[in-house]
Amino acid sequence: MNNKRENFGSRLALILAMAGSAIGLGNIWRFPYLVGQNGGAAFIIVYLVSCFVLVLPIFMAESIIGRRTRLSTFGAMKKLAPGTPWKWLGLLTVITPLLILGYYSVVGGWSIDYLWKACTLRLTHDTAGLFPIFISSTWEPLFAFTLFIVATAVIILLGVKNGIEKFTKFCMPTLFVLIVAIVIFGLTLPGSSEGVRYLVKPDFSKIDAGVVAAAMGQAFFSMSLGMGTILTYASYAPENENIMASGIGTTFADLGFALLAGFAVMPAVFSAGIQPGEGPGLVFDTLPYIFSQMPSWIGAIVSIVFFLTILMAALTSSISVLEVGVAYLVEEKGIGRVKSTIIITLIGWVLGIFCSLSFGPLSGAKLFGLTIFDCMDKLCSDWLLPLGGLLFTLFVGWYMSKTDVRDEFTNHGTTNVGIFNVVYFLMRYLAPLGILVVFITNLVL
Ligand code: PHE
Repeated sequence: MNNKRENFGSRLALILAMAGSAIGLGNIWRFPYLVGQNGGAAFIIVYLVSCFVLVLPIFMAESIIGRRTRLSTFGAMKKLAPGTPWKWLGLLTVITPLLILGYYSVVGGWSIDYLWKACTLRLTHDTAGLFPIFISSTWEPLFAFTLFIVATAVIILLGVKNGIEKFTKFCMPTLFVLIVAIVIFGLTLPGSSEGVRYLVKPDFSKIDAGVVAAAMGQAFFSMSLGMGTILTYASYAPENENIMASGIGTTFADLGFALLAGFAVMPAVFSAGIQPGEGPGLVFDTLPYIFSQMPSWIGAIVSIVFFLTILMAALTSSISVLEVGVAYLVEEKGIGRVKSTIIITLIGWVLGIFCSLSFGPLSGAKLFGLTIFDCMDKLCSDWLLPLGGLLFTLFVGWYMSKTDVRDEFTNHGTTNVGIFNVVYFLMRYLAPLGILVVFITNLVL
């Protein structure tokens, strides 16, 4: 079965697909509001450090496993550690994507709905109350969510080369142009310099354990780590791809995009005199309000461009989430790609229905005081993704033999020989320790 496997056609295709997975709602929706809630520039600095010290080694760990085995997570664990409890890590990476697919697609649906609202000029006037009314209603968000998850499934049905590769090759450069256009526009608004100052002038007294844990958790989520996405994409890497180079390329792309999103959102927020600590509604509630205050033709263009950007970024990520589950069913259960895609999409859809309704009819259903949506978000980004990441680094750092890890990392001794020891050290010690810090902080806070 293995030799029928598709691969990405080139290094560029691999990096664009990985960057496409990494860059998503995490960058445009989550990052700006977390920056706003956690003290601006100080949060960004902790985030930057986490990306290179914590996230890059885990990225490498997943890449090494994927490229070495050329299998999906479950099969990779069975091949490298047959008959050991490591198979549970494989199982974890089948469950987490299902949960993420469900709630991520709900927010993806919001971006479809808001793009529609922008196109029909609904965002150029009187947006007060629009967002709370929208998310707490039953059918409109459900319909948009269904459209989003079906769009994700269609791309996956087309396959690795014709679906994922073609779609990300088209979207990623477009996304970059769109976000730069929004940043430039935001910077021309009166009073926007206050927002810029907020993003570049750190107030170190704002850094506490909670800020560090939030930055690390966000770095995980944003780089799509801890559930086998990067592992699966790396398993489609072209032969002899320099995996360190694709790791660094993806990290810079993801970081750069998050910062651009910060610069797209904060100057506009400050220019409108709004507090940045708004929370999850920042992008869907506050920004439309700002757009509605602009001359209507400008508001119309900017809102269309903005929500189109969010939608494309969300889709290039959701396909990577779906692919993990599909690859598992195809390779481990021998189910065809079409059937596998339908099965995983249906499970994600059912879970997502509950998440979507948890803003309205099911808002009273709470677990640990959290709604279903918040529970899924917290469970995945605070616990399951870091747990998966921890297990991946421990697996590569402590279970696999150093010779095998070095062999894969250096493409059989031909590249990156010099930095291998540094990354290996980070994988064995610093990254696991960093994740433990996240866990302990999340437990205590
Ligand atoms: N990294 C994606 C984003 O930033 C989300 C994601 C998480 C995708 C985990 C795959 C796996 O939006």
